[in-house]
Amino acid sequence: MRKKIMLGNWKMNHTITTAREFVETLDDTIKLADRKNIVIGVCPTYLCLNTVRRRTPFSFVVGAQDVHYLESGAFTGSISIPMLKEVGIDWCLVGHSERRMYQGETNELCNKKIHALVNNEMTCVYCVGETLEQYEQGITKDVVKNQVVEGLKDVQAERLKYLVIAYEPVWSIGTGKNASKEIAEDVCKFIRDTLCELYNSEVAESISILYGGSVKPNNIHEYMTMADIDGALVGGASLKTDSFKELIENF
Ligand code: 13P
Repeated sequence: MRKKIMLGNWKMNHTITTAREFVETLDDTIKLADRKNIVIGVCPTYLCLNTVRRRTPFSFVVGAQDVHYLESGAFTGSISIPMLKEVGIDWCLVGHSERRMYQGETNELCNKKIHALVNNEMTCVYCVGETLEQYEQGITKDVVKNQVVEGLKDVQAERLKYLVIAYEPVWSIGTGKNASKEIAEDVCKFIRDTLCELYNSEVAESISILYGGSVKPNNIHEYMTMADIDGALVGGASLKTDSFKELIENF
């Protein structure tokens, strides 16, 4: 059975103070997620990781939003895997479209990060998705296939238990224009078919694939009714405790 996952991506939001306030009210939400068998968590900024990790039970996922693929060195502003592990972090996003867009991250760089994470037994949430221009050109599947194939280059099948994929069409992120459940399912199924081609059906069937892009409490459930969508990666609606809880209630 694939894991059902609801992960908040806080992006550049919350200070240590407001992150602490957020986790102080989480008890009921975590219990509800446990009862519904949903893996739940958030990806705060680096500065808040320790605060959130120390104040939440181990079952609550606390992930980083990015990581460097090397252990240490002259990389001003970067954070490495051993540094994350030291504060108990074992999940990390890779290749979020905002990093691809604003930091120029390529599939090749994502591939290095994915290798580093899965080889260190950290769960990697690899984000893929097309821009509005690519969507309008009708090349969504070419773009996503490239991202998957190049991102997973030379990653061994036995390491894929540490992989989650998030399909986030760029045109739906933060715009309120969520992809329809049919569009999201079509691409998530295509990703699973691609994983089957690259590896085998057993591996493809075992990997959780999330949808992200303007997921809200009032639309999360429709995605969860689709066969190849196993969860959600949520930005804006994960920032407030009330809507975070509603996402789990309505999952
Ligand atoms: P929104 O839910 O704010 O559209 O953000 C989605 C996202 O980018 C999650 O990683």
